[in-house]
Amino acid sequence: MAYLSIHDDGPVRVIRIARDERLNALNLELVDELVAALEAADAEEQVRAIVLTGGDKAFAAGADIAEMAEASAVEMKLRDQFRVWDRIRGVHKPVIAAVRGFALGGGCELALACDLVIAGERAKFGQPEVKLGLMPGAGGTQWLARRLGKARALELLWLGEPISAQEALALGLVNRVVPDDACVQAAVDLGKRLAEMPPVALRCIKEAVYQAMDTALADGLEAERNLFYLLFATEDAREGMRAFMERRKPTFRGR
Ligand code: CAA
Repeated sequence: MAYLSIHDDGPVRVIRIARDERLNALNLELVDELVAALEAADAEEQVRAIVLTGGDKAFAAGADIAEMAEASAVEMKLRDQFRVWDRIRGVHKPVIAAVRGFALGGGCELALACDLVIAGERAKFGQPEVKLGLMPGAGGTQWLARRLGKARALELLWLGEPISAQEALALGLVNRVVPDDACVQAAVDLGKRLAEMPPVALRCIKEAVYQAMDTALADGLEAERNLFYLLFATEDAREGMRAFMERRKPTFRGR
């Protein structure tokens, strides 16, 4: 792992992007490593939630401009560097971004691709690609249009100016804002709370919520119902309901 540092805090896998000297610019190798690390965490049973973070100054300052500056359109098409990002959406476990400093361009898209976002109070979110003569390529137009609506998405994307953590909170892009030095711990604590929840139910809820962003309401409601009924096949649902009836704390095992 050239660009990541990884450790576990109990059931929470903490993945830190550690290319600080380039403000965590996301080069091809780094993104490959990151996707592999997310998939590995997803596959390991003892990991119940994943925290993705960066450095103090930058969560990530975007795709690596040096890698793209001289590339032709044909080279970019053949390289197809953002296809691998689709695999981030395939991670079933909760992924929480802990964002300190800059989350710009691909860095903002990476935060938006996570399920939940905890922001440090000096974090800055933005899609400055327009200032490079570009546009987002790793999902920024889609995430922002869906989550903010057309007008606010276009303003952010057209002007390319970053917004503060507080503004991102008001827009619903982040879950909470905390002091910078408490950011990673707050994300880990949230991960630990999720780790106490029944994993199969968390997975089905995630699937249903992402489907809601992507389908007609009737299809989404149908899918949600079917996932709900499916959970009755899990031991955890039985345990959760029984524990409620017996007025005790449930123990969930992911089965
Ligand atoms: N790619 C490559 N290198 C980058 C980088 C990036 N996205 N962002 C920062 N760096 C490098 C700088 O070149 C610099 O390297 P050197 O020390 O070798 O010169 C180093 O990181 C530190 O950066 P700065 O000196 O620029 O730091 P600063 O504090 O003065 O400015 C900043 C910080 C405002 C974030 C500024 O670095 C910046 O504007 N970065 C680019 C942001 C951007 O445009 N991102 C979008 C990229 S395109 C994209 O992401 C497409 C997509 O949809 C995925």
